[in-house]
Amino acid sequence: HLYPPSFQGSSLLRRSNCRAKGGAPGFKVAILGAAGGIGQPLSLLMKMNPLVSVLHLYDVVNSPGVTADVSHMDTGAVVRGFLGAKQLENALTGMDLVIIPAGIPRKPGMTRDDLFKINAGIVQSLCEGIAKCCPGAIVNLISNPVNSTVPIAAEVFKKAGTYDPKRLLGVTTLDVVRANTFVAEVLGIDPREVDVPVVGGHSGVTILPLLSQVKPACSFTSEEIDYLTNRVQNGGTEVVEAKAGAGSATLSMAFAAAKFADACLRGLRGDAGIVECSFVASQVTELPFFATKVRLGRSGAEEIFPLGPLTEYERASLAKAKQELAGSIEKGVSFVCK
Ligand code: NAD
Ligand code: LMR
Repeated sequence: HLYPPSFQGSSLLRRSNCRAKGGAPGFKVAILGAAGGIGQPLSLLMKMNPLVSVLHLYDVVNSPGVTADVSHMDTGAVVRGFLGAKQLENALTGMDLVIIPAGIPRKPGMTRDDLFKINAGIVQSLCEGIAKCCPGAIVNLISNPVNSTVPIAAEVFKKAGTYDPKRLLGVTTLDVVRANTFVAEVLGIDPREVDVPVVGGHSGVTILPLLSQVKPACSFTSEEIDYLTNRVQNGGTEVVEAKAGAGSATLSMAFAAAKFADACLRGLRGDAGIVECSFVASQVTELPFFATKVRLGRSGAEEIFPLGPLTEYERASLAKAKQELAGSIEKGVSFVCK
């Protein structure tokens, strides 16, 4: 059931020694929801990643076309496509990293929590597949509402007896990417020089950019702090409204997801000092999940960093973030435990 069916594996046209089976040395990565708005550009970016040797593209629609298209890129990764629930197990078997952008996106006027009804079930069934076919894989969860889908995934893995909190990572990189961009605009510097830790969760007031910890060290007026905090918290809504019914962020999200996946793969390879923000099981606050900086290594999020010193403004924002996060986490947990 590999796609494109007519060409893949046509041994008559392929010399046996022209490419080692499995392609270049590297990691096996699956994208679930690969034909979607995020999935397509993310497939392209992962096909370009030299750390990827095998790329599995799974969706319930249109994955053969995306696979045929991406497979023609002359980079190292071997691309295989999988269509529909019957092929999920084949898509997942042997994977080192599974990235999940499957699920519906927001339209104007919706909150991320409005997506729960549909996306909770999608994430649950995909994670059941992961528990069965690649229980040791690192999981990068993008589907919204992340504040609830990560707890859902954790409960599914617990039920299956495969849960390792270090390997389940909610993707909040887009908040960091946005914060770096908006801060760089205010400071008039190159965004690539900026590093803003963004903690909490991935929805409205739960998104908390720590502007007192920006690198390079700098200071902001209280007007700038209000503007930047609001802009980062509402970055997703800014895109949803601009797209006017055609979905939410896809291109910047694919960029952010590819950046985070690359960091996970470098961690898996054993590179030192790989630090990214992510929504993970955590003891940094009293909540069971929280986004902070984490150090990525061979077994996933190997170290979770504390929040560091906060300003009064950040402490007040943190209290609001925790209040909303608690409800979202509980909603995810009880979806699986009901
Ligand atoms: P989209 O509708 O364009 O694509 C979603 C894809 O998921 C579609 O191709 C669909 O067929 C597929 N899908 C649906 N059910 C599936 C299943 N059971 N198995 C596999 N694939 C399935 O949506 P999008 O714009 O790509 O957004 C996807 C999700 O990512 C949304 O929930 C969105 O809110 C979320 N998102 C998260 C972030 C973040 O920062 N974490 C950022 C942007 C978007
Ligand atoms: C984002 O931050 O862009 C995503 O979570 C999508 C959304 O619904 O805003």
